[in-house]
Order: sequence, then C-alpha cells, then structure tokens
Amino acid sequence: MRALTPDLWMEPIESASVDELRALQLDRLRWSVRHAYENVRHYRSALDAAGARPDDVRELADLALLPFTGKADLRANYPFGMFAVPRAEVARVHASSGTTGRPTVVGYTRGDLDTWATVMARSIRAAGGRPGDLLHNAYGYGLFTGGLGAHAGAEKLGCTVVPVSGGMTERQVTLIRDFRPDVIMVTPSYMLVLIEEMERQGIDPRESSLRVGIFGAEPWTNEMRREVEERTGMHAVDIYGLSEVIGPGVAQECVETKDGLHLWEDHFYPEIVDPLTGRVLPDGEEGELVLTSLTKEAMPVLRYRTGDLTRLLPGTARPMRRIEKILGRTDDMIILRGVNLFPTQIEELLLRVRELTPHFQCVLTREGPLDALTIRVERRPTATADLARAGGEQLRHLVRSAIGVSVRVDVLEPDGIERSVGKMRRIIDQRPPR
Ligand code: DLL
Repeated sequence: MRALTPDLWMEPIESASVDELRALQLDRLRWSVRHAYENVRHYRSALDAAGARPDDVRELADLALLPFTGKADLRANYPFGMFAVPRAEVARVHASSGTTGRPTVVGYTRGDLDTWATVMARSIRAAGGRPGDLLHNAYGYGLFTGGLGAHAGAEKLGCTVVPVSGGMTERQVTLIRDFRPDVIMVTPSYMLVLIEEMERQGIDPRESSLRVGIFGAEPWTNEMRREVEERTGMHAVDIYGLSEVIGPGVAQECVETKDGLHLWEDHFYPEIVDPLTGRVLPDGEEGELVLTSLTKEAMPVLRYRTGDLTRLLPGTARPMRRIEKILGRTDDMIILRGVNLFPTQIEELLLRVRELTPHFQCVLTREGPLDALTIRVERRPTATADLARAGGEQLRHLVRSAIGVSVRVDVLEPDGIERSVGKMRRIIDQRPPR
C-alpha cells in the first residue's frame, strides 16, 4: 500500500474530551431546536402536536421527546417550506434526484456552506488527503451534493482540485494518467468502472499515482475495500452523508484505522432507533440512524430518519463516535420467504468468487404467491464460460448457507451488467403490485 504523510494538524474539537464535546452538543442542540421551532412552521406545529417545547430539552437525552422528521415532511413542504431563514439569505440549494415524486430540496446559508466545507476538509484529511495534494473529484456536480460538497472541502484543505464530475470514463482515465492525482473521490461502483477502463487501456492500476480513494454515496463492504486496494495499491476509505443533513462529510473513516466512520458530532447529533417502533437503542445495537443538525442555519433538521441501518461504536482514531459501515437502507431490505437480506450481504459473498466480477444486481420477481430473487453477475474476462458457471453455482451455495435462502444466479458475459457513473442501482423490482 502506498505511503501516507502523517496528519500533523487537527481542529481542536477533533481531539476534545467526550465531556467537552457533550457540553458543546447540548448548547448547540438547544439553539438548533429553538431556531427550528421559531422559524419553521412545520417544526412549530410538529412540536406543538407532540406537546413538546424547545425548553424541554435540558439534556441530550431529552431529544427523544421530540417528534421525528422524515422525507415525507420535506416533500410536503416542497420547495422551500423547511427553510428557517428568508429565501434571500439562502446562498445555494441542492436537491435529490426525485425519481419517486417530488425532489427533496435543501438550502444553505453562507455560514452553512462554510460549515460544510469545514467538515468535508476534515473528512478528506482524516482519509489521508493533505494540503497540496492533487484531488480528482468524480462525484457528480450539480443538484447532487457529492461534487460541489467534495469540491469545497478539498479547496478548503488546500488541495488542487480537478472537478471532473461523473461520466466520460475514457477521459477520466486519461486525466488520471496525465495529471497524476494523489486522491480520488468517487462512488465505489464507479471506481470499479475506472479500474476496468485503465486495464482496457493497458494501464496497470497498481502503477497509478493514486494514494487514497474516498468512496461513498452508496453502500459498499470491507470485501470491496480489499478488492479495490489489491487492484490499485491505494487506501480505500468510506465517506458518508446525505443531502437532508448537509451532504457528504457527515461521517468519515480514518485511514489509519479503517474501522468504521467517525461521525462529526460537533455538527450532527446521532441516535439509533428501532426502525419499526422508533424506540431509541443503546450504543452498539443495530438500528436506523437518526440525525439532528446542531449548527445548520438555513435548514435545520430535528431527528431526521435517514433510513440507513448501522450501529454506534465508541471512538478510536478520534474521540467522536463511529458508525459501522452502513448495512443498507430500510427500503432496500429484501424479504424473501421470511428472511431479510441486503445487497451488501450479496456483495460480501460475491467477492469470494474469483471467476466473477464485483458487478451485480438483484432482480426481484414473483412466482405464484412467492417472491424470487435472481442475482445477476458477470464472468471475469479471464475466466472461461465453464469456470464462470461453476462460480455462479458456488455463489448460489454461499448465499444458501450464509443467508439461508435459495436464489437464482444468472452469469452474464463480461460487461453484461449495466454500469453507472454515480450511484449504482442494485435492486430491480419487477414484481407486479399485489
Ligand atoms: O449521497 C451524499 C454523499 C455524496 C455521500 C458523496 C458520500 C459521498 P444523497 O444523494 O442525499 O447524498 O444520498 C444519501 O446515500 O442516506 C445513504 O443511504 C447513502 N449513502 C451515502 N453515503 C453512504 C456510504 C449523498 N458511505 C444516501 N455508505 C444515504 C452507504 C451511503 N450508504
């Protein structure tokens, strides 16, 4: 693995004691709740309906007295109803793609943009990026928060940014070869596409200049980390975030430990709740991540249900708590004959089968009254069709013994699975409505 420059500077809050951090969080939480209540009609009526007042929040645990916020609340207040400042004070908006109905719109004051750049700069540094590094940013620019979010953080850290955005894969590889970047920021699934394109152009990815890859915006596993690190010789670290809370830079894995993502708790307060009952669970238990913004001005969020499943772990490389790599989203859970499963579990098993590439999709169909799952995979160009078929059979067995369900495995030819330049669509639901 390529050598890294040691981290010589940190923001003081990154090494603050847990007591100091909790005191800061409480102050900020009380401000944030009052700010939301006084300036956003939705929060005022939601808190009133729950019989809660901002003054009821006397300690951090009192957060549990407040109602949750969900995507539906943002949609119901489309486009600018969740803003807590006059529209003219909003310096920028971003929005989710809105494949299902109205997009969700988020807004930032100048102060928010500065906070965002700060947490992103901190994230890139924790990932091993350093001032003066050349950084290839292949997250999409535009309404998606990935491109511009990473861009501002990299500039703030003092990197030279190459704002490539997603797509035009051949040109991405030319730029990587010619500019010799130290750091790449991209979705893990598109990194695989870039690696393949390098190989197609006769460039050995292990010879590339890249030292660190900062991968996020979609779930990926430790097995995928191993695959990318082995094929490229760079460090692969995880970055997490979501538009509603700020964008990328909510949590970041530290390159020296690669053991889950430190959540930047001075700006975002985490809870884990039971996804069905909403009960707050103790640290260490798996459930849905709920986030409350502590410093956001334009669009504060109180107890936002992320839909992401993980657990809270104690700090290691930093005192702030970590989240475990995201298992998946509650809405991406596949229920097959009573067994729950996530695409990340398939990825984990697929990467054990050397005859198959890491590209895959889960196709859900219905056969009579029962749901069925077909895992679409593809043969590595180096494997013969016979070997790849045996690999498919091996995957079927692995799924059966590790997860306990029978699935079908379709082994396609190389390039048989559609490639994505951003987030990969893992689940294709072909079930007719019941
Ligand atoms: O994906 C922000 C982002 C951009 C994060 C670039 C990291 C890098 P949204 O489009 O709003 O924002 O999607 C947010 O993506 O709730 C998760 O379900 C998923 N997600 C984001 N990062 C990770 C990750 C951006 N590291 C949604 N692991 C979130 C797993 C992730 N899932």
